Amino acid sequence: MKLNGSMTVDEKVLHIGDVSCIELSEKYSTPLYVIDEKLVRQNCRDYINNFKVKERKNRVAYAGKAFLPLYMCKLIKEEGLYLDVVSGGELYTAHKSGFDMEKIIFHGNNKTLDEIQMGIDLGVGIFVVDNFYELDLIEKICEEKLAVQNIYFRITPGIEAHTHEYIKTGQIDSKFGFTLVNGDLYKAIESMSNYKNINLIGLHAHIGSQIFDVQPFLDEVDIMMNLVKEIKERYDIEIKEVDLGGGIGVYYTQGDQPKTIKEFCETIVKRADEICDEINIEVPTLIIEPGRSIIANAGSTLYEVGSIKTIKDVRTYVSVNGGMTDNIRPSLYQAGYECAIVNKIGEEKLSQVTVAGKCCESGDILISDTDIMDIKSGDILITSSTGAYGYSMASNYNKIPKPAVVSVMDGKSKIVCKRQNYKDLLALEIMDK
Ligand code: LLP
Repeated sequence: MKLNGSMTVDEKVLHIGDVSCIELSEKYSTPLYVIDEKLVRQNCRDYINNFKVKERKNRVAYAGKAFLPLYMCKLIKEEGLYLDVVSGGELYTAHKSGFDMEKIIFHGNNKTLDEIQMGIDLGVGIFVVDNFYELDLIEKICEEKLAVQNIYFRITPGIEAHTHEYIKTGQIDSKFGFTLVNGDLYKAIESMSNYKNINLIGLHAHIGSQIFDVQPFLDEVDIMMNLVKEIKERYDIEIKEVDLGGGIGVYYTQGDQPKTIKEFCETIVKRADEICDEINIEVPTLIIEPGRSIIANAGSTLYEVGSIKTIKDVRTYVSVNGGMTDNIRPSLYQAGYECAIVNKIGEEKLSQVTVAGKCCESGDILISDTDIMDIKSGDILITSSTGAYGYSMASNYNKIPKPAVVSVMDGKSKIVCKRQNYKDLLALEIMDK
């Protein structure tokens, strides 16, 4: 297992943020999500420093869908990032954390009337308008409330990013955004003269997720900048801000070769300069929306090993006390992960096993056929890089309570999300007496 961020090994025991994983499992029980706060902060700073936030007033907006407890909102705020939210629930979380609403970018392909009202009442900085229906709703609500709302248009630029099919969002056949090639975007721009309470200031696109290749982003930059020029020439509308979405890939397993945040940012910013120079326009303010690349490698999950079943000449199943309820990604996307036994780091890998979850579902497999050191029931097994889309996609299938989340840094640990208990599971249920 690759050691991420502040992971270290002391006498075979894995430590994160100078806290022993054995101690964490004893203190907080398992399954347990562990967040390496130092790495989260480092990733935020790498973005801020390399995306020319200070010199150019460019912006980095953390994509909250990856992981958004109140704790994370606070951290993101302290590091000076903006925040991308996609629902009333995420917006509410940000609001309750004291996040500056001006720094919120509100996404979603079907924002409800209530969500739009809430966003306008709270004073959200930008609505990323996805469709004609939303445009009408925003105008109507703004009219009632005598408000004016700044917006970006989300466009579908038609770029094929090389990633898992389920998480591609930039192609033409997409539920997201105004399509470029069929003229929908132009219709939307032309309709702007009907809207008195909406201010179009930017364009947005998101071309996919877990992308290693920088080329699709460079193509995206080219398309967006050419659009900025075209919109100015055709409609005399000044597009001042261009939001390039998220999608930068991270390391999960051997073979993944992600670029650093620095390499990605520098290449994108440079390309924007070049193309704007070529087509003779001013470089707009650039926005990037990383989710996974800020939090994935900073999160790990600790489990306790339970039953071990060996089927001779077939496979050994090692079952842990969590599974698809705390990490749906292997079942949903065939996503790969690495694991280790936390107090046997560096020991020879003696066998090959399949790590299974505890749900009543054959597809509840966390890792297939992985080499592992000597493994016994009661051992604490860690899966790394579970920080993004783990807790945020967790469910209560089989009425399994969600694990706790702790954050670790400089030898200290603190709980940031409590473990659900059985009572919590029934909190919304009503039974006639
Ligand atoms: N901005 C927009 C508009 C997005 O739709 C997304 C992700 C992001 C930013 C952040 O992308 P990131 O940097 O995290 O790749 N559940 C899937 C990922 C779905 C991503 C959806 N949109 C997974 O677990 O792989």
